[in-house]
Amino acid sequence: MSYKISIIKGDGIGPEVINVAIKVLKKIEEKTDVRFELTEYGAGDTCQKKYGEAFPKETFEGIKKTDVLLLGAIGETASKVILPLRQNLNLYANIRPINTYNETDFVIFRENTEGLYSSKGIRQKNKAIDTRIITKKATKNITKAACDYAISHNIDRITIVDKSNVLETCKLFRETAKETISQYNLKYDTMYVDNAAMQIAIKPEQFQIILTTNLFGDILSDLSASLVVNLGILPSANIGEKFGMFEPVHGTAPDIAGKNIANPIGAILSVKMMLEYFGETKIAKIIEDAVSKTLQEKYTKTTDIESSILTEIERAFKTVKNQ
Ligand code: IPM
Ligand code: MN
Repeated sequence: MSYKISIIKGDGIGPEVINVAIKVLKKIEEKTDVRFELTEYGAGDTCQKKYGEAFPKETFEGIKKTDVLLLGAIGETASKVILPLRQNLNLYANIRPINTYNETDFVIFRENTEGLYSSKGIRQKNKAIDTRIITKKATKNITKAACDYAISHNIDRITIVDKSNVLETCKLFRETAKETISQYNLKYDTMYVDNAAMQIAIKPEQFQIILTTNLFGDILSDLSASLVVNLGILPSANIGEKFGMFEPVHGTAPDIAGKNIANPIGAILSVKMMLEYFGETKIAKIIEDAVSKTLQEKYTKTTDIESSILTEIERAFKTVKNQ
């Protein structure tokens, strides 16, 4: 099997951690029949400085010809790159696992194409208007993605998070989410977003899957990231009907760029999510186990984490072969 992967290395620590993720892809090629066709594209602050554009048309046209995009952290120009990708490719499901590989383990499903990110907004001198659009179609899409994930990961309950005691858009979101979940053999509960923020802070273990709208998901996922000691280990996926985009959650961290201390695990787990998207679940599991073992070692240098993960992967493939 062969997969076409676009790569945008991004800014700051982006390139150094994406390079480690690429080494993991190469290792998989070495050990299996799976092949990856990698094409690198430019986007972000560095690209803006060099070519005067943060998100060149050629980049978008090139990406569209591939199956997925592996995206490194983007700096100041992030919204100019990430939002058009999500909206133009209809990547409606933003999936953010908050997994520390010891205690905390839940996943946020954030609707990725509408809500308060629907419009460009209107600015008058003393007044500004943003429009919040919620549609039944996009709500169904994100809910189905959450349900499918729940079933494939043996999770039996989804928490719908909204502000439906006040907002009409949230009433439609809750109604549609409930209706959609009822078609699966799954349970749900509901929570207002203000309470959800407090519950995440005081009792995160009550959550398995949080299903919510765009801006609420944005805020709750950063709040949830605070439960994880190192933000560098969190991955994410943006998934639509025909395309997937995978990016570590961390930012460009210019203060540590080039110092060999950036944690590549978020990028590697993003590759793991990419493999799951391809249906390569066995290989994905090998990567996840390698990460989980490496995390127990408490390494701090990028090269130590990298060599531990590559060694664990190598070992796992040997065991698979000998079975
Ligand atoms: C994220 C980021 C983006 C968002 C920004 C860069 C537009 O914060 O992926 O969470 O708000 O969605
Ligand atoms: Mn965010």
